[in-house]
Amino acid sequence: MIPRFLFAFAAPGALALALCLPAAAEAQGRGAASARPPAAAVPATQRAVSFVAEAPAAGGVLVLPLSAEGELAGRAASLSEADRGAVGRALTSSKFSYEGGKTLMLRGVGAWDAILVVGLGETPGPKAWQSAGAVAGRALRDEAGGLTVLAGGLPAEAAAELAIGLGLGEYRSDFHQAKARERTPTGPVIVVTGQVPAAEFLFRPRGEALVTAMAWARDVSNEPANKLYPETFVERARAALAGVPGVTIEVLDVPAMERLGMGAILGVGQGSARPPRMLILRYRGAGAPAAPVVLVGKGITFDTGGISIKPSANMGNMKMDMSGAASVTGALMALAKSGAPVNVVAVAALAENMPDGRSIRPADVLTAMNGKTIEIVSTDAEGRLVLADALSWVDANLQPAAVVDVATLTGAVRGALGDEYAGLFSRHDVLADQLAAAGEAVGEPLWRLPLHPSYGVDISSTIADLKNGGGEGAGAGTGAHFIGEFISRDTPWAHLDIAGVAYGAATDTGPAGSAGYSVRLLERFVRDVQP
Ligand code: BES
Ligand code: MN
Ligand code: ZN
Repeated sequence: MIPRFLFAFAAPGALALALCLPAAAEAQGRGAASARPPAAAVPATQRAVSFVAEAPAAGGVLVLPLSAEGELAGRAASLSEADRGAVGRALTSSKFSYEGGKTLMLRGVGAWDAILVVGLGETPGPKAWQSAGAVAGRALRDEAGGLTVLAGGLPAEAAAELAIGLGLGEYRSDFHQAKARERTPTGPVIVVTGQVPAAEFLFRPRGEALVTAMAWARDVSNEPANKLYPETFVERARAALAGVPGVTIEVLDVPAMERLGMGAILGVGQGSARPPRMLILRYRGAGAPAAPVVLVGKGITFDTGGISIKPSANMGNMKMDMSGAASVTGALMALAKSGAPVNVVAVAALAENMPDGRSIRPADVLTAMNGKTIEIVSTDAEGRLVLADALSWVDANLQPAAVVDVATLTGAVRGALGDEYAGLFSRHDVLADQLAAAGEAVGEPLWRLPLHPSYGVDISSTIADLKNGGGEGAGAGTGAHFIGEFISRDTPWAHLDIAGVAYGAATDTGPAGSAGYSVRLLERFVRDVQP
């Protein structure tokens, strides 16, 4: 406790200095870094959402969620008997299964442009409602008109989750195409429910903020690295959080990180024309004494591997190697924009990993902010390096209730868990259980993997305090163990390795690219956590 107490006094001065420095003072002598594109290329196209008690007159697309044939009469009571009969016959003759996410699109029934039946499955709940909404949102993303969702007879939570799902499902990643620039805003979503005030209360502001934050996180993840690099990540975070009550933003630039001795993140960034940044976002929504939950994200805006260069096949996916940073920023954004009564800090460790005459080399030794020396085995194990300094900073400056870091850290976790689960590592069972429960609740599941003491041996070095790679063993585990060396053992800490789940091919609920994985999980965890 004593060293931390001392650091608490030392740090604010250093931060204030960092903030006072003009942008020019950090120039690394490379002109390209100064050209800055606008913060957002395309205006958001989120549909406006309202909840009403009576179904409006036909127009646009009708969304009809059903878990069984028998629900049709009640749910679609606002349709004429003839239209309802036509829907019923279509369901029967297509042998519609009512499974979660199954759809049947009907055109030419009544005065609607289309009627989209969406299966809810046999045991509907928040996850099923949200994912049914997302399937509908995705299927209807090109419908210019409004959407009317019939949620009568369902709980208020279903109405709210269907609306959240619609917002998530309509997300698009084609923002650099001409058609995106010409796109006109789509019509509103009208959710018909017998529970108008309750649904409204559940959706606004929380659900709405979540949809906005998810889109933000996916946008910055999907953005290519010529447009999204440490400085522009910071600009986009600033733009999205401007004026949000309770939020303060601090940025450590290169000189500030040099003064703090952050040799690890500086080492990773030194081969790039884009200088690294440490972005520290604070949201204070609870009373002053409440210790914050601290979220730390790996923010490699592009990972070539550096001198230990990656093969060229699929290297482009490494534009999304900042997904952890995007997720922790998105989670804070969702909490802050909805005025959640919590204290949370998000730290984004931002750098680009490039091969260059100035790059770090294998066998180099770097010194992290906490004084530990690191032998570089592979310059491609860079995520743990930027996190080492981020966690050292957290350890020295904050007294967290819990620390969770999120990173696209290892290919090994994909080998272990595929794209079904993110890897969860923690020495604190209570924290691990709370995170796993949050992931389960929102449909972003985690699978806990061990932190065996032998991983410490795997990453021991003969010339430095530790090394950044561990040979042929448990790659995800040694990466996790390494990160854990930079936060006090007394602080409840967990590491999420999202390398297998952060992005993927197009699905029924979203386009190819970033999944925004862990924004919803972290938002839920921070709200519900009992430290
Ligand atoms: N960003 C990668 C991990 C990754 C791989 C993310 C595939 C998403 C998909 C990370 O920086 C990396 O290169 N890790 C190395 C670590 C190794 C050198 C110890 C890996 O997994 O091979
Ligand atoms: Mn790498
Ligand atoms: Zn990486």
